[in-house]
Order: sequence, then C-alpha cells, then structure tokens
Amino acid sequence: MSDTVSRRSALWLLGGAVTVAAAATGWSARPAGATGTRATATGTAVAPAASPRVESLIRRLTLDEKLTFLHGADDPHSLGQAGYVPGVPRLGIPPLRLADGPAGVRVTKHATALPAPVLLASAFDPALAREYGEVIGREGRALGQDVLLSPMVNLIRTPYAGRNFETFSEDPLLSADLVAEEVSGIQAQGLIATVKHFALNNQEKDRMSIDVRADEQTRHEAELRGFEAAVAARAGAVMGAYNKVGGVFACENADLLTGVLREAWGFDGWVMTDWFAAHSTVASLRAGLDMEMPNGTYFGAALKEAVGDGSVPQALVDRSVRRVLTVMERFGLLDGSAPARPDRDPAAGARTALKVAKAGATLLRNERRALPLTGAAARSIAVIGPTGSLPFVSGGGSAHVVPDHAAGPLDAIRERAGKGARVRYALGEDLFGRALPAGAVSPGADFEGQRVAAGATWTYDGTLTAAEADEWTLVIHYSGRERPVVLLDGTELFPLAPGYGEYFAGGLVSAAPDGLAVRRATVRLATGPHTLKITAKGGADGQVFRLRRITGATRAADVAEAVRVARAAESVVLFAYEDATEGADRTTLALPGHQNALIDAVTAANSRTAVVLNTSSSTTMPWLERTAAVLQMYYPGQEGAAATAAVLFGDCDPGGRLTQSFPVSDERHPMAGDPRRYPGVDGVEEYSEGIHLGYRWYDQESVAPLFPFGHGLSYTSFGYDDLSVRAEHGGLSVSFTVRNTGRRTGTTVAQVYVGRSPHLRLDQAERALAGYRRLELPPGGARRVTVTLPARTLSSWDPARHDWVLGTGRRRVEVGASARDIRLTGHGEVRR
Ligand code: BGC
Repeated sequence: MSDTVSRRSALWLLGGAVTVAAAATGWSARPAGATGTRATATGTAVAPAASPRVESLIRRLTLDEKLTFLHGADDPHSLGQAGYVPGVPRLGIPPLRLADGPAGVRVTKHATALPAPVLLASAFDPALAREYGEVIGREGRALGQDVLLSPMVNLIRTPYAGRNFETFSEDPLLSADLVAEEVSGIQAQGLIATVKHFALNNQEKDRMSIDVRADEQTRHEAELRGFEAAVAARAGAVMGAYNKVGGVFACENADLLTGVLREAWGFDGWVMTDWFAAHSTVASLRAGLDMEMPNGTYFGAALKEAVGDGSVPQALVDRSVRRVLTVMERFGLLDGSAPARPDRDPAAGARTALKVAKAGATLLRNERRALPLTGAAARSIAVIGPTGSLPFVSGGGSAHVVPDHAAGPLDAIRERAGKGARVRYALGEDLFGRALPAGAVSPGADFEGQRVAAGATWTYDGTLTAAEADEWTLVIHYSGRERPVVLLDGTELFPLAPGYGEYFAGGLVSAAPDGLAVRRATVRLATGPHTLKITAKGGADGQVFRLRRITGATRAADVAEAVRVARAAESVVLFAYEDATEGADRTTLALPGHQNALIDAVTAANSRTAVVLNTSSSTTMPWLERTAAVLQMYYPGQEGAAATAAVLFGDCDPGGRLTQSFPVSDERHPMAGDPRRYPGVDGVEEYSEGIHLGYRWYDQESVAPLFPFGHGLSYTSFGYDDLSVRAEHGGLSVSFTVRNTGRRTGTTVAQVYVGRSPHLRLDQAERALAGYRRLELPPGGARRVTVTLPARTLSSWDPARHDWVLGTGRRRVEVGASARDIRLTGHGEVRR
C-alpha cells in the first residue's frame, strides 16, 4: 500500500471492458499467479493441478459425467431443498444437495427458524454470528444437505429493498466481520457455505435485469468487502447475482468472477448462478462461472455441443469440475472422511434462536422508563395487533424456514405476566377478513369453505351487493397451487405478478393461520349490486376456497375495540408488522394497511403504549412522539415471542443496535428524489452516492435520520471516559473506559468511528465505523476496552492504483453509542 493522489476511475461507469484480462481493467490487487488461477486475454484461464485424487477422477470422468457437475438436476429423493447435483456413483462421488438459507435450513422438514440475519447483525457480535452459523451447519448436515445457500452479504443500500431482512447491514466493516464468522461456523460443521449474491444485488425491483453502475472505489469500499471477507474465511462457493454489473450479467462477468474473485482474492471454490440466472454457455464458462442452477439450460446439452464443435476447450470444463471436486475433497466428501451426519439438536437450535433474538432486540425509544414493564404496568396489559397473537417468524421467499414450533407474543406475554395479571387482547387490524354478510351474495354459495374436487372446476356467476358505499378489502383464502380467478365488475382482483407466480407472494400475512394462502384486493364499492364471477380449479389435490371481506365498517369496529381495550389497561403493547419477501421491493416505508391509524387511535387512548415492530427494515413512524416506547424486533424467528416478552419485562437488556439508518420520511434518505439512483431509469441504475452509503450519506448531506446507525437503548446507562489513541503497525490502537452508570446489568455496543485522512485526495466519509465492542456490565461496573484498527480499515481504494492505500496522517477517532451519539473524540497519527 502507498499514499497516492489520484483521479477517480470512471471505467466502471462507462461499462468496463469485460472480455479482457482483469489486470487490464484494473481489478487485480495481487500479482497474477499468486492466486492460483490466471486469466488470459481470451478469457481461458489456466488452473493449477488439484490434488492427485481430484486429478485422477478428472481423468476417469467421461464428458457427460463431467457436465453433471456443472449444472443442477432433479433430485430423485428430494428433501425439498433448492438444488441438486447427482454425483457419479460409479466413481464413488456422492451427490450434493443444496439448501437455502440465511435464517435456517429450508427443506420440507422442520428446522430451527433462527431470527433474520438483520437481527443477528444488530447484536454487533461476531462470536454470535459464528454460533448462528454452527447451528445452521449442523442442521444442514443433519437434514441431508451438503451445501448451504447462505449467507447473503449484499449491503443494505436502499430502505425499500425486499431482502434487507436477509442480510446484515449498511456498513461494510460490520457485514464483513459477521459474514466471515458465520461462514466459519457453517463450515466447521461440514456444510459448504455459499456467499451470495455476487454482486451489487441490493434491490429486488428489476433484479433480473437491472444494470448497476458503481465506480471502482465504491465497489471495493462498499459491497465487495463482505464477499472478500467470505473468501478469506474460505467459503466453498459463491452465488452469482441476477443483475448486471457494468453492462454485463453478474453470472457472465469476467471482471467479477475472474478478476476480482480469483485473481485479486484467490478464491479457490466454485461459482454457481442464482436460480435461473444463467444467460449464456460459452461466455459464462469463459468468464468464470462453474455451475448453472437449478438446471442445465446452458451448461447441459448446449455445453456438450460447444465442446464438440470446439468453441469451448475441454480444459475449461475440467477447470470447473476441478473446482467443485476440490471443495468436495476439502469437506471429506470424496474419500468418505466427512464426519457422519449428526442428529438434529432442536433444543440447542432453539437456545441459540432465543439468544440471538434477545441479543439483537433494538429498543429505539423509551420515555419515562416505560419499559421494562413493572408494577401495575406489568399486571394490566393490553396486547393489540394481528401479529400480537400470530407468531411472526420469518420473511417470505427462499429465506422461509418451516419452524420446529412457534408461539404468538400474546401467549408469551400471558405466561410471563403470570396468573395474577390481566392481559387483554384486541385484533386492531383484521388481516384475514370476516365472512360475507348473509344476503350480500346472490345466489348464495359456500364462501367459507368451498371444496373443489381434484381435477374439477368450480365456477360462480352472481352478484355482490354493498349495502352502502364503502371501501372493501376482498380477501381470498385457498389451498393448492393455482390461484382462483375472481372478477368483480369484470376486473380481475388477484392477478399473478408477472414472472414470479405464487412463490414470492409474501411471508407471514400471506397465509391464514390454518395454512391457506391469502390474497387481498381493496376496491371502492358503490351502493348496490356488482357482478361477481369466480373460477376455482381443483388441480391435482383439490382446492378449498374462501371469499371474505374487510370493510370500512369492520375496520372502524376493530379500531374501536382496540381503543376500548387500551383504555382499560395500565399499559399497551401494540404489535405492528411489515411483511417483506424476496422478489419485490416495498413501495413505501410506511407500515402497510391501516396500522398508522390504529397506532394513532391507541396512543391517544393510552399514552403508555409500547410499539413492537416486526418489520424487515426501516419504517417511518409519524406517530413516534405519541408512543412511550418502540422496540424493533424485525423477524425474530421461532423463539421471537419468548424473546420479545423477555425484553418487555426486563428479564434481559435489549442488546441490539441499528445496523442501518432509519429515515424520517420517504423523502429524506439516500435514494430519495433521484430515480437513476433508485430504482433505476431505462434499466440502468447508478450508485451515484458513491461510497456514501447509509449513515455516511446522512453525514455528508447533513440530514438528520429518524434513528441513526448504531442507535439502541439499554435499560441502564453507560458512561465513556479516558480515550487514548496510539499508532500501531500502520494502524491505531484505541482504548477507553466504559462504565455502567445505572442500576441494572446492561449491554452496550461501544462504537469507534474514524474521520478522513488529510493525505488522500480520494473521496472519504466524514465518519466510518472502524471497530466496535459489545459488552455487558453490572451496575457500577467498568471495563477498559481496546479496539484495534488495522491498516486495512484505515485505507481507501485508489482506482488509479487499483489497490488499497493507507490514509496516513492525523485522523479523528470518535467513540460513541451511535453514529450520532459521540461521547469521546481524540486523534491518532496513522503512519506506514
Ligand atoms: C434466490 C436465492 C436462493 C435461490 C434458491 C433465488 O430466488 O435469489 O437467494 O438461494 O433462489 O432458492
């Protein structure tokens, strides 16, 4: 590394040159050859020989057999996992089963549903990330899997992104620390980890086609750091993203797959596509893709043909086979040395799930010590909200896990409050609808449980009559794969989202408590009859179908009941939700449905209202000032209800801190007002905020967030003293004393931020997280903490040198309880 003054490279913004060697496009940070693989100008990489066992297998495999390693196939004995590679029994090579995912193993059987990764990240505790990985690693092996399609390390860039709950943070350092430990934990149990989605897959909107343009410095300092950490932790596999990067699909992007991954970082595992993310045969293989998932559209017969006609040399096929087999060998899958599959340990899984949910629970607001609930407030409680009684376990899409069990918060609160307490519940907002009023439909039919036999079709042709003009939400519940078609006044109410079908329809609130799928459509109905036509198909297994409604009148009645229950109680715990899923972004940061109005009404009725948020990411809170407390629990996993109750009653301190900034409104965040930045214009999206992601942007633009990065309250208070900063091996050693100044044992996360280097003419953040320490202290307890900031953390990426460059000179060092709650400031001299 060296100090350097340079102009920012615009190469990537121009689309980059992707077919030439990585070194020529400026990706290489290490000398070619040091990484084990070398890309030539034609894209044909020469890979070094693998172990004698792998080389011998490659010699004995036929071309057809080799190709089976390069794409997914149907599993004759599927356990419900996402992917399968059959292996070659003739040579004793076993199959690979590949399962999601980020919050637990997703197969058809039960597994531990851990809290969403964003909740894990909120604990700021790499050791906990390792434990989380160990639980998934063991379960994956126990459940017959070999490869885990996790962790996801894409940064939280836009608050709207549908998968923010599946990943860690807006901060690259925190994300990198956690991903490294989680990968180690997973792999220590013998399961191969797949870090995903490489790279710049930071939104779901247009994820299959969006072309991301981010300059070189931004890529390296932001999104790529987590992937680099996963590679350094020796993740066995990398999953390429759906999107394009610099004009080229990520799964056929030589700059990413060969230049960065292999040459700069020395990755020695294999690269698979995201599901159906392959776009070519020859270009992809040459670029560095090894495996197409979940089938062989491009890497099956088409690849065989390309080898046959000479457009792909066998050596390239061998290179990919070698990469897969080498990882398999490392995990003992080729010589039977892999440890026997363990049994599941659901009790241990549940313990970790509970621990993580408590550790990540983030208390955003707590006025006049409203929490924990004690005394009268703990003996007379109103629990309000649909997710107050339903267990909100996980988000939707590929991160969904079939939990071992799950209780709702109401039961957990009742249990914790004890027999003498009065705990009343009110729904507040109806998610699943009420039966249609008698006489509203003509002719009459069974809309509460219409059964359509397998292979049969049921049609209804009649009218729905609104007694008065009102807003109606029509709700269908149905079993089976095929969504019924419902036409009201000729308009289809529940059309399928193009491309995704039913799969990514949503998480918790898209299924009724009895498991039927639920869809909703809101329409304004004029007084009088409306034509209603329904077609429901029995499919292979038959279908159960319901049609229900929520009207302005039922809504008002639910709010009135909530207000009545809130008034009669000493304290209120109101549960609010937002149900995110892969495949779609949110369109607003407001809570969905009429929850804001519900919170307004309830807080007006009882000022001692604590709002518990089960949301995927940040949420706007127009009602914040009227609440007594706000507790962010995200998607808390199968033990979420118990963890929530433990925090509410003060059995543990809320240990979490925000890993993303929460904006005040839809107009005041890094993506606001510039559609080229988000969600993209004409298929292209520019990361024009550069390195100023998340809190860095709020600092740069002097915008106040609703809650800053790093924020979270404890039930006790902490003081910070005696900062000292020393130069050490090109880095800094930062010491300070943390004291629990309150009357309870509590947890804090001390955060160390660094300011700019005076010697770099590169763009730098006003303040960047450089280290942190989570610690628990008894009342009056104090601890001297030393956080080491290595040279790399104090470096910027110089696009002129295509390398990290140390930010030398006098640098500001701050210690605080959030990015906006700085308690100590000092300086340190960074020297090479
Ligand atoms: C997701 C991946 C997931 C894969 C397999 C894709 O839709 O983007 O994260 O691993 O499906 O389920």
